[in-house]
Amino acid sequence: MRDVSIVGIGQVPIEKSTTWSLRQLGTAVVQEALNDANVESVDALFASNMLADELQGQKHLAALIADEAGLTGIEALEVEAATASGAAALRMGYLAVMSGEADVAVVVGVEKMSEGVASPALTKALDAEREVADGATLISKNADLMRLYTERYDVPDDGLFNFPVNAHRNAKNNPNALFRNMSVSPRSVKGSRMVHAPLRLLDCSPICDGAAAVVLVPTEEARAFSPHPVQILASSVVTDRFRVEDRPDPLWLEAAHHSAQKAFRQANVNREDVSFLEVHDAFTIMACLLLEAAGFAPQGEGWRLAADKRISLKGEIPISTMGGLKARGHPIGATALYQTCECVLQLTGRAGKNQVRDASIGMTQSVGAAATTVITHILGSVDTYG
Ligand code: COA
Repeated sequence: MRDVSIVGIGQVPIEKSTTWSLRQLGTAVVQEALNDANVESVDALFASNMLADELQGQKHLAALIADEAGLTGIEALEVEAATASGAAALRMGYLAVMSGEADVAVVVGVEKMSEGVASPALTKALDAEREVADGATLISKNADLMRLYTERYDVPDDGLFNFPVNAHRNAKNNPNALFRNMSVSPRSVKGSRMVHAPLRLLDCSPICDGAAAVVLVPTEEARAFSPHPVQILASSVVTDRFRVEDRPDPLWLEAAHHSAQKAFRQANVNREDVSFLEVHDAFTIMACLLLEAAGFAPQGEGWRLAADKRISLKGEIPISTMGGLKARGHPIGATALYQTCECVLQLTGRAGKNQVRDASIGMTQSVGAAATTVITHILGSVDTYG
């Protein structure tokens, strides 16, 4: 088995609605990542997407993008795990290079949520017979968790406000963030429209379009492609009971806990070693529960990390360092690839005004539905860990 590193990244600015087609978006970021890695050909392409079948009437995206990018004749497969699809594709690329099946792989995530109506298609991440039939949506599920959490732990009204405030502050310095021109204060969170009580507009990630890609090679060859490669130190996937209602404690994300623990063991690091976390803050409450499940706060105290500003760039555990899903945007299938590109920028000292000081270990968590599937990756600079 071989160690695997990222040697090229590509991202397009996230937009509310782009005129680019899926194939144009995918090809643009694949080309950018290949140029960044100084490679012209790859052995495999893995693509992630959740909604194109429903919204664009398009399946078979990996082969479509490979063809458009001039990469025909290679393995090209699409990987899907609902709202965690991007991380699932990254893991498949990682396994392909690790096993020796591919020497160079490109992983691309692409999503256009703006065409048609995304919400019913997103709901397909839930149990069609036992949740959707009863009217559940991803929004209602997260609203239920938020209500339960704030009641059980007696969280003050403004206790969770700093999650979106922090994300929006960080998005201002990210040229690829959807909300790069938006200012958000605790007051604006409080004043934002109620979407599904107690969940407000500023507790939600947006509907948007985007694409991002990374190039993977064996670490032992990585310096031939990039002066500062970033190694994937761990990759783990864990699933939970499918429905939140079937879990012993709805506020304890067991899959996130186990996925993080497995990843820490693989990478041979502790949570104290993690310089920053790109968390799946699709909804405020999910960021809070993930911090607890991964061990960054005791159960019931994740909100205090935000309230005490310990999640800021200079805090104890910086999160959503380039805006997160909340403010960079959450174009579903592309999201984990954006998180990965942002990790690479942080770990190679290229995060600009949002640079986390002495960043040496970055962690990402990606969540399918209400934490039914949780995928964790831990990354470190090859200069330090290779
Ligand atoms: N945060 C901040 N502002 C937002 C926003 C968000 N999440 N969503 C929309 N807006 C802004 C828009 O930019 C727009 O502003 P403008 O009038 O200045 O242009 C305004 O709010 C209205 O936008 P609109 O698109 O009409 O809002 P909407 O009511 O249709 O959608 C949500 C809002 C929250 C319902 C929608 O973004 C949503 O469904 N989010 C969750 C998506 C999801 O489930 N993702 C998967 C999670 S795992």
